[in-house]
Amino acid sequence: MPALNEQLDLIRQSATVAMSDHINVLKAGGREIIGLQVGDPDFATPPAVMQAAMKAVQSGLTHYAPAIGTLELRKAVADKLQRDEGLEYDPAEEILVTHGGIHAYHVALQAILNPGDEVLVPDPSWATHSNMVTMLRGRVVRVAAPAENGFIPPFRWGEKGLTSKTRALVLNYPSNPTGAYPDRTYWVQLHEFAEAHNLWIISDEVYASLYYEDRPTCAASVHGAKERTLLVNSLSKAYAMTGWRVGFLAAPARVIGNALKAGQNSITCVAPFIQHAAAFALTDPAVQQITAEMRAAYARRRERVLHLARELDSEKMRVIPPRGAFYFFLDLRAFRTPSVEICERILDEAGVGLVPGSAFGEQGEGFVRMSIAASDEEVEAGFRKIIAWVEKFQG
Ligand SMILES: Cc1ncc(COP(=O)(O)O)c(C=O)c1O
Repeated sequence: MPALNEQLDLIRQSATVAMSDHINVLKAGGREIIGLQVGDPDFATPPAVMQAAMKAVQSGLTHYAPAIGTLELRKAVADKLQRDEGLEYDPAEEILVTHGGIHAYHVALQAILNPGDEVLVPDPSWATHSNMVTMLRGRVVRVAAPAENGFIPPFRWGEKGLTSKTRALVLNYPSNPTGAYPDRTYWVQLHEFAEAHNLWIISDEVYASLYYEDRPTCAASVHGAKERTLLVNSLSKAYAMTGWRVGFLAAPARVIGNALKAGQNSITCVAPFIQHAAAFALTDPAVQQITAEMRAAYARRRERVLHLARELDSEKMRVIPPRGAFYFFLDLRAFRTPSVEICERILDEAGVGLVPGSAFGEQGEGFVRMSIAASDEEVEAGFRKIIAWVEKFQG
């Protein structure tokens, strides 16, 4: 048989997908499962956004669009970055519309990476951040961001691990899976570090609007950082639009020039009716109101979990309050049991779906990720079941 791409042998199947498959098998067999493994908002896309898309289809926006994205959506993105972060981006050459945040990350890496280049990726982090580097024949250098450091890497990111091939560092705050994000002073120091070593900063900010404490800092908003920052974002999480597959990359013009070639030669363009609906979502005041209500619901669920955790006051499980995103990273290290086994047992014995922390890197071992992107009732019932399971657990 002809050979295959060996690079993909280096990538494991997504633990979230494996968990969902297992849950589907159990459900098909009649088991009732509370699915707290999801990374997808439980809310419907705002109806007015759906109507904007349907009208756009009917009006004939069903052909190719410009590969860089429609001017309407690029302007809406620039306005959003101005409105939310006070940043000036030129819609003509500093913004590229992408097929979701994952594609923005893909083309960002394609734009800057040569085979063998090294990329610093925190541990724990969303698996795609390192997998994509591997797929593009880069070398991933993991930088520990342990719980004891608030899940934030020291700002002198693995200085000892830097080589002449180190090209970029990847951040994702608020973080999937931890919900952590650093304060502004950290970003200032990080920028100085990146500048001193001539590194690109890739900042995945898909959870930027979901926060429960001070507003998270946008990486590009630090003085002087915009010129080396590649901002990855999408409408998936903030607007409950995961299935629409629309996002953007905001970056210096020469990066966008390269990323555009990468996008053009892979997806051609994002569907124009989707782009019209996305522009509407980003700018319509009533839609912003709906997303504010979604954020309030996540905040309510987070509070409820923290309240139950305080009531329980378990020695076995440490519940770290997430500052943002819609996940809890529950600390079960006291069990000294692999997180894959813990998740399998919680699924089989308590009927709750979670994601093992080891899926996010070595530093995630002993943790499990619990999503609050499920109804208030499911989050409460699921967390109560986890508590009951934890209290009964014998190693
Ligand atoms: C950190 C992070 N970045 C990007 C994405 C991908 O988002 P999108 O649906 O916009 O591709 C996810 C999805 O779970 C994520 O957790």
